[in-house]
Amino acid sequence: MCGIVGYVGSRQAAPIVLEGLKRLEYRGYDSAGLAVQQDGKIVMLKKVGKVSHLESALHAGTMAGSVGMGHTRWATHGEPSEVNAHPHLDCLGAIAVIHNGVIENYSVLKKKLLADGHRFQSDTDTEVLSHLIEDLQKAGGDLEQAVRQALHQVKGTYGIVVMSSREPGKLIVARKGSPLVIGFGEEEYLIASDPSALVQHTRKVIYLEDGEFAVVSMEGVSTRTLDDVAIQKSVEELTIELEQIERGGFEHFMLKEIHEQPETIRNSLRGRLQVDEGVVKLGGLEQVKDKLLAARRIIILGCGTSWHAGLVGEYMLEGIAGIPTEVEYASEFRYRNPVIMESDVVFAISQSGETADTLAALREAKAKGATVLGIVNVVGSTIARETQGGVYIHAGPEIGVASTKAFTSQLTVLALVTLLLARARGVPHVDYTLLMNELDALPGKVGKVLEGAGRIKEIAEVFKDARNFLYLGRGSNFPVALEGALKLKEISYIHAEGYPAAEMKHGPIALIDEKMPVVCIVPKDAIYDKVISNVQEVKARRGRIIAVANEDDDDIGDLAEFVIRVPRTFGFFGPILNVVPLQLLSYYMAVARGTNVDQPRNLAKSVTVE
Ligand code: AGP
Repeated sequence: MCGIVGYVGSRQAAPIVLEGLKRLEYRGYDSAGLAVQQDGKIVMLKKVGKVSHLESALHAGTMAGSVGMGHTRWATHGEPSEVNAHPHLDCLGAIAVIHNGVIENYSVLKKKLLADGHRFQSDTDTEVLSHLIEDLQKAGGDLEQAVRQALHQVKGTYGIVVMSSREPGKLIVARKGSPLVIGFGEEEYLIASDPSALVQHTRKVIYLEDGEFAVVSMEGVSTRTLDDVAIQKSVEELTIELEQIERGGFEHFMLKEIHEQPETIRNSLRGRLQVDEGVVKLGGLEQVKDKLLAARRIIILGCGTSWHAGLVGEYMLEGIAGIPTEVEYASEFRYRNPVIMESDVVFAISQSGETADTLAALREAKAKGATVLGIVNVVGSTIARETQGGVYIHAGPEIGVASTKAFTSQLTVLALVTLLLARARGVPHVDYTLLMNELDALPGKVGKVLEGAGRIKEIAEVFKDARNFLYLGRGSNFPVALEGALKLKEISYIHAEGYPAAEMKHGPIALIDEKMPVVCIVPKDAIYDKVISNVQEVKARRGRIIAVANEDDDDIGDLAEFVIRVPRTFGFFGPILNVVPLQLLSYYMAVARGTNVDQPRNLAKSVTVE
């Protein structure tokens, strides 16, 4: 969501903070702002739009100072504008606050502060924090104490950085619900909401936990709880490489990430799929193996693309391992008083590991006694730390807002979990050797799909002005239809719907005419003939069919106007291949329409508010 960067050190803060903000732009980017401590004052600059706008407005020699902080904003309260951009100041301009999260009781606090004579500039929830801290400091006490007291009064979530011109040389940092990490450089300290903003300066970091508070100055970093109890944090090592968070010659991060998939799937399998020994090893599940084997039911939680991965996981876990599985939108789960049993095992799937809804849902499941596990990409993220075990997908940093490589790695890990459980439970009639070989062959097969990118680009040119799209699939390819439609909506802003192919005749078929593009996923699997009947129904109504079909399907050309070929694989693993052309189609459609592929409007990479 929003991005936070802070700096205390011996170098100029502004350029370092700006550089960090650029690395975080993918998280939220309707406006950006910067504040630096200079000659006993706080100087501030804010701009609507991208960080580059802020950078061009920054004139040489201005904003000189070695303590600073900046923010990229994704609007929650108040429209994107300069006044609503962070930092937010108190009445005297002496206290500045940047904030990720939502202050839920801000209107009550604001009313009181207004009545006490505070003058507000913005419509944001964040501004109450600067005025509240100002108010509490009037009663005496230092900044640290006032921030602590203010945070005791607010309800909601926050990752904040606070500075004051009256107490130069320090930044105060606190976290509840929104991630913050502090990096230790040489004679400098950096703060960020995402480690990718730090990696070019340092690999040594500490992650703040909820309820923790830090004072960062040249004397060092002192960490305490919000209730002022000293805590010792252990310094961790970041494992991401700088080139992983750069575009590496590709026009967009999304295209780079699509093309990385043979490698990222291989990374998800590495050391885990041991074909020669005929075993699957998942170290992160070892400690909870007994719980997993005894589980009467698996519940998968996730949002967006991660939820789609969960749906495919349900087909695998039930279809191969025979384990009853339910998949829930994390955002709905905790508000419907779900029945959770101690014998339930819950998998939270999340690329970022920070999605507020997923985190809240897993906490709910944990509180009700279930065993909670994670399938997460970002190492050290909150979900990874709050789960009792799990599997990292090892897809590497995903910067494009539209998730691609994380999805195929999530599916790969779900396939591994399925095989592990099927074998451990002694499920009969599963040809493990065949399935393991199929998994092993997937990276190469994804590589083959990518060779067809040129053809997909041509198809995108044909349909770039379409107003609507339908995506149809059956069985485990139904979630692929959902995912294809989501990708198109997200980055090309074309209305699209994913549907189970056979459900079409119960309503959406009314939409089909000679203008409607219909993407049909028709692999030669057990239900091929059924899906073909559904494709016939589209053709009979003169819909424009784009088929994703296997290389050896000689008949599909008679039905479809365009055919995209994918290699064959074992049925339940098909989604890992079939989604790739849909990612490319949405990518090239977006490029043809001139939209902002990596940072589509209104979206944020990591949704850290409810
Ligand atoms: C995917 O393209 C989306 N940007 C979005 O749906 C995403 O999958 C969702 O917000 C969940 O994120 P997470 O995997 O980081 O939890």
